[in-house]
Amino acid sequence: MSSYVAAIDQGTTSTRTMIFDHSGQVVAVDQREHEQIFPKAGWVEHDAEEIWANTRATAAGALANADLTAGDIAAVGITNQRETTLVWDRKTGKPVYNAIVWQDTRTDRIINELGALGGGQERYRDRTGLPLATYFSGPKIKWILDNVEGARERAENGDLLFGNMDTWVLWNMTGGIDGGIHVTDPTNASRTLLMDLDTLSWNEDIAADMGIPMSMLPEIRSSSEKYGVTRERGALGGVPIAGILGDQQAATFGQACLSVGEAKNTYGTGNFVLLNTGTEKVMSQNGLLTTVCYKIGTNDTVYALEGSIAVTGSLVQWLRDNLKMIGSAAEIEQHARTVDDNGGAYIVPAFSGLFAPYWRSDARGVLVGLTRFVNKGHLARAVLEATAFQSREVIEAMNADSGVPLKTLKVDGGMVVNDLLMQFQADILGVSVIRPKVNETTALGAAYAAGLAVGFWESEDDIRENWAEDKRWEPNMDEERREHEFRNWKKAVTRTFDWVE
Ligand code: G3P
Repeated sequence: MSSYVAAIDQGTTSTRTMIFDHSGQVVAVDQREHEQIFPKAGWVEHDAEEIWANTRATAAGALANADLTAGDIAAVGITNQRETTLVWDRKTGKPVYNAIVWQDTRTDRIINELGALGGGQERYRDRTGLPLATYFSGPKIKWILDNVEGARERAENGDLLFGNMDTWVLWNMTGGIDGGIHVTDPTNASRTLLMDLDTLSWNEDIAADMGIPMSMLPEIRSSSEKYGVTRERGALGGVPIAGILGDQQAATFGQACLSVGEAKNTYGTGNFVLLNTGTEKVMSQNGLLTTVCYKIGTNDTVYALEGSIAVTGSLVQWLRDNLKMIGSAAEIEQHARTVDDNGGAYIVPAFSGLFAPYWRSDARGVLVGLTRFVNKGHLARAVLEATAFQSREVIEAMNADSGVPLKTLKVDGGMVVNDLLMQFQADILGVSVIRPKVNETTALGAAYAAGLAVGFWESEDDIRENWAEDKRWEPNMDEERREHEFRNWKKAVTRTFDWVE
């Protein structure tokens, strides 16, 4: 039997292939960044062909780094930035437009028009678990069909396919124009505004509202089963592809949040808190999303409540790339350590409007509380604190929805190496924050989904056994200061509203 499982993690800023052994340890990794394309304010695109080229290159790179061949790999899992929307021609394999990224707000008008059909922002909530917002895929498909010349006609003729990045990568890996498989899983489909959460099937009425032909939509399979085999055209040829999970659900799985009430917070370009609610679909009263957490083969569907925060790590990148205030993301902690607090400054990075729990596409970012006293260190702190404050807001919403306050928070993702941020997160939440030994939970979760399908891992118990704690931060801030800081933050948030008319 092959000794390893591979995962392809097609993320917002880069694509990685990782290889894991049976104990869930990382054996090899290869990673490539892709271009972030910003054609106008509020628009964000990716070149899907660049992403596919990077996928192939990292698969070859990871195998080479570990001196392995495809024969050593029992299965491949795919995990991906969710919602990012691509439409391509099934005969040529060419995208008709760049992928429109989840952060993109160009569908604002479409959202308002759909809401005006009746029901406003809550129009599709019962069926999909989601509010109408620019974040999700369906309206992005509509934008492409409305705005790319000839696209609607080609779509109606059955020539065009829609996919999120999981589907694009899988279609190409299984042969592309030469028999590529056009499928997705329910975690991705649950982010389109087009899938019925109870039946896990596409909702024809919603697709009709958006003018989306059903023939464009991929088949929805489970998150863990053999979908097909990679074609003999890349380094990973001949290996079963057996897992698909949206990246945040993959991280939840990789963090072994497999029981009701367990939650994780991933610190990536954005932050995403997911709470496992088991086979019960909990409808949020407090601005969270109801989403599919995972569906393993023929087992019952497991649902989650999700608090999605659009901008956290990408605020640090913005400071580095747009303002050139730091040379590398890691530098932010050094600057933040030169001061004791934020000096009264708060940054609310509503770059894509505000996601959970507000869902305000009219919001834009603010920096408030400035005095002549404020220096670079204070701003660095305000940037890091914005991540922790936003996380507290969605966790409060989660506590209110579930009625059971979270006692500990499992964390993962790029920013959890930042000690100052993790301590502040524990302080501002008033609960312990725990980081696992294997922090690569997203790729690991996808590897688990694939490995379970081919018998490489036997059951979810293997996942629980592999999880181990690395470090824990305990709250160490007095109650009065905690609440004072949080009140200031909430006040700063109100300053972002009503900016875009
Ligand atoms: O919903 C968007 C999310 O899937 C993106 O995740 O880690 O690429 O920021 P990440």
